[in-house]
Amino acid sequence: MKVMVIGGGGREHAIVKKLKENKEITEIYCLPGNGGIARDAVCVPIGATDLEGILDFARTQGVDYAVVAPDDPLALGAVDLLEEAGIPCFGPRKNAAVIEASKVFAKELMKRHGIPTARYEVFTDMAAALDYLESAPMPTVVKADGLALGKGVIIAQTKAEAQAAVRSMMGEHRFGKSGDRVVIEEFLEGPEISVLSFTDGKTLVPMVSSMDHKRAGEGDSGPNTGGMGTVAPNPYYTPAVAERCMKEIFLPTVRAMAAEGRPFKGCLYFGLMLTKDGPKVIEYNCRFGDPETQVVLPLLKTDLLTLMRAVTEERLADCPVEFSRDSAACVILASKGYPGTYEKGYPIVIPQNLEAQVFVAGAKEQNGVLVSSGGRVLGVTALGETLPAALEKAYAAVSQIHFENAYYRRDIGKRALAAKEGQWSIESM
Ligand code: AMP
Ligand code: GLY
Repeated sequence: MKVMVIGGGGREHAIVKKLKENKEITEIYCLPGNGGIARDAVCVPIGATDLEGILDFARTQGVDYAVVAPDDPLALGAVDLLEEAGIPCFGPRKNAAVIEASKVFAKELMKRHGIPTARYEVFTDMAAALDYLESAPMPTVVKADGLALGKGVIIAQTKAEAQAAVRSMMGEHRFGKSGDRVVIEEFLEGPEISVLSFTDGKTLVPMVSSMDHKRAGEGDSGPNTGGMGTVAPNPYYTPAVAERCMKEIFLPTVRAMAAEGRPFKGCLYFGLMLTKDGPKVIEYNCRFGDPETQVVLPLLKTDLLTLMRAVTEERLADCPVEFSRDSAACVILASKGYPGTYEKGYPIVIPQNLEAQVFVAGAKEQNGVLVSSGGRVLGVTALGETLPAALEKAYAAVSQIHFENAYYRRDIGKRALAAKEGQWSIESM
């Protein structure tokens, strides 16, 4: 069986490594992949948004199954195109990927179906948005409607900051058409929880919960990044919280999408905030999270391809899903300066026999040597019976990996460990 994975980051490396455990698979292609993924799959230099190129490749190679991992090809309709050509896929169709591709759609869906989220207003007119901000409570959150490489959300502490964000999105078109509409929403507070789920449009199976670390600096300081590390499970996601999420958020979302003629099939990602009034949706993603996948998939005991095909064929209800009860921690090694400007092109030394898995995000092969080529370079994931054990192993592995200009946060998991000590009372919900 020939499988094709679309994408080329750490998330795709984690997917490829997990798929490799399936013995039915004879070939894994990754389009475009990267220098590290090339050690586990055949990388093909076709961009993730080159839909015609992808389809052409799949046809000529006789690809039997495709996994579309990133948001942009999903939003462009990669799954529609491949499925219409008879190639079964893991991932939502375009009309369901809109749950991530348009924040306005997601907010209105939640409003129509009573799914808890921050209060909000939508603006298509800059003057009206600026006027609204004159009397809006601060802090407030300004979001570009469309995809913006994870940079389209501004938490504004003051009116001036909020107005600057609106001007940059709507006036200066910083995110192109993605900022033609903006959502201005209520600022929520509480711990964040990521829950990825498998859903075939009818049944939903949550994966183990996780916690991302979005800020570049220690103590959650500095600018937002694509994610500097993750831990799983997320200790704030207690059985009581999980039950509420399933009842108030997960199932209502799956039903809402189906009822509106947009059945969601694939990985539906819930970005949640545990507020004093209960769990609320911060965002939906139509795909596996990055770097959540790098802690969630290593804990998956069930065969990934089996699950993905059950989703495609709408048989998830009959498919048992099992996760390890261990914990996982992933520390991202980035190029110093990321998410701003950084130097790259440095050789990376990864010793053999590490007690951790290394997922390559931004590195390419040059004369047989792996060199850094992006902002986020590697994700180092370790498992342990407890979170402290997993963290210790992950950091021990990180200390043995070297490349010039490497930067990583030393406090991944710290907040999660504090939760265990009861610094946040979930009972107050
Ligand atoms: P998003 O790109 O939607 O994931 O937003 C990025 C980050 O901004 C989230 O992970 C939250 O930390 C923060 N955020 C988004 N919306 C809100 C909100 N309404 N209140 C507080 N923080 C938010
Ligand atoms: N880690 C957040 C995301 O994948 O969007």
